[in-house]
Amino acid sequence: MSSSRLTLACTAGAFVLPPEGRIAVFRPAAGADLSALPKPRVTVITGNRCDHDFFAAAGFATEVAPVGPFAAAVVVVPRARALAQALVAAAAASVPPGAPVAVDGARTDGIEGLLRAVGGRVAIGSALAKAHGRIAVFANPGPEAFADWAARPLPATGTGGVATAAPATVPGSFSADGTDPGSAALAAALPARLPARVADLGAGWGALGPAILSREGVAELHLVEVEHDALAAARANLGEDPRLRFHWADATRWQPPAPLGAVVMNPPFHAGRRADPGLGRAFIAAAARMLAPAGVLYMVANRHLPYERALADAFREVTDLAPAPGGYKLIRAAAPLRVPAQVPGHVHGPRRRRA
Ligand SMILES: C[S@@+](CC[C@H](N)C(=O)[O-])C[C@H]1O[C@@H](n2cnc3c(N)ncnc32)[C@H](O)[C@@H]1O
Repeated sequence: MSSSRLTLACTAGAFVLPPEGRIAVFRPAAGADLSALPKPRVTVITGNRCDHDFFAAAGFATEVAPVGPFAAAVVVVPRARALAQALVAAAAASVPPGAPVAVDGARTDGIEGLLRAVGGRVAIGSALAKAHGRIAVFANPGPEAFADWAARPLPATGTGGVATAAPATVPGSFSADGTDPGSAALAAALPARLPARVADLGAGWGALGPAILSREGVAELHLVEVEHDALAAARANLGEDPRLRFHWADATRWQPPAPLGAVVMNPPFHAGRRADPGLGRAFIAAAARMLAPAGVLYMVANRHLPYERALADAFREVTDLAPAPGGYKLIRAAAPLRVPAQVPGHVHGPRRRRA
C-alpha cells in the first residue's frame, strides 16, 4: 500500500517536507494510511466520492481539484496512464519550482513506466521499492515540464456533444475515446416510452443520457456518478436539459428523492486490473431498492460477468431485453424484491480503482 512507501520515503530522507505550507496528496484510495505526513498540513485531492468521504471523515482537508499553493505534493498513481500523467502535471502546477513531488504507485498500476516517463523530463531521485511498488521524488522544475500532460479543460456546460463523435471526456474515465459498444447497444434497445423518473447509475460522461432523454415520458433523469470529473464531463455534454439532475455520489448508497420508474445502467466491472463482479452486483441490489414496485431495470453487462444470481435475488422477472452484440448481454429486470444492501468492501473500505 502507498502508505508504507510514503513512510519509507520520509524516514529514508528521500521526501523532505518543507518546514511549513500545505501538502497536496493526489488520489489516495480510501484506507491509505497517510500518517507519515502531518495531518493539519495535508489536503487530500480526489474526485472519487468514496475516497473523498473516507478522508473527510478521518479529519483531512479535502478538495476535488487543487486550489494552491502547496509546499509539497504526493501523487498516488492510478492505473489509468492518462490520469496518472494529468495528476503529475497538476502536482507540478500546484507547488513552486524546487518543491518536492513524490510519485508513489504499485507495479500493477504502471509505476515503473510512469517513473521512466517522468525521468525523461526531470531529474528524479532513485526509486525506493516496497510492497510491490515504488516511490520516487523530484524537485519541481516548474509547471511547463508537464504542461502537455495536463487534462484539457472541459467545454462550458451543454456545449459538448454526447450525440456527436466528440463528447467531452476526462483522462482515465470509462470509454474516454468514445461510446462503449455495450452502452450503444443498450441505448438502442431502450423502449420508445420510459417512465417519468429515471436514473442512470454510474453515468460516466453521460453516454446513455441522450437516448434516455429522447424517449417519450421522461420527466427527470438522475445521473449518479462517483467520479467528480466524469460527472462534470456529463454536465458539459448534456447540461442544458431541465430534466437533468446530477449527483456526485456512490450509487450503491444513493437514495432517489422518490421511487424511480426505471434504472438504466452499464455498471462498473473492475477494481484495479481485476474484473470485480461484486460492484456490479451491488449496483443491481441498489437499483432494486430505488425502483417503485412497477419499476424496471435496463442494463448491459459483459456476457461473462456472473450477475444472474444477483438479478434473481433482486427481481422476480429477468429477461433478455434484446439480442446483444458479441461479448455483451442486455437485460430487462422487473418486479423488484426488497433486498438488503449488499455493499462490497472495496467500495467503502480500502479498495482499488473502478472501471
Ligand atoms: C462501465 S462505466 C459506464 C459509464 C457510462 N454509463 C457509459 O455507459 O459509458 C461505469 C461507471 O460507474 C462509475 N462508478 C464506479 N463505481 C461507482 C459507484 N460506487 N457509484 C457511482 N458510480 C460509480 C465509474 O466511474 C464509471 O463511470
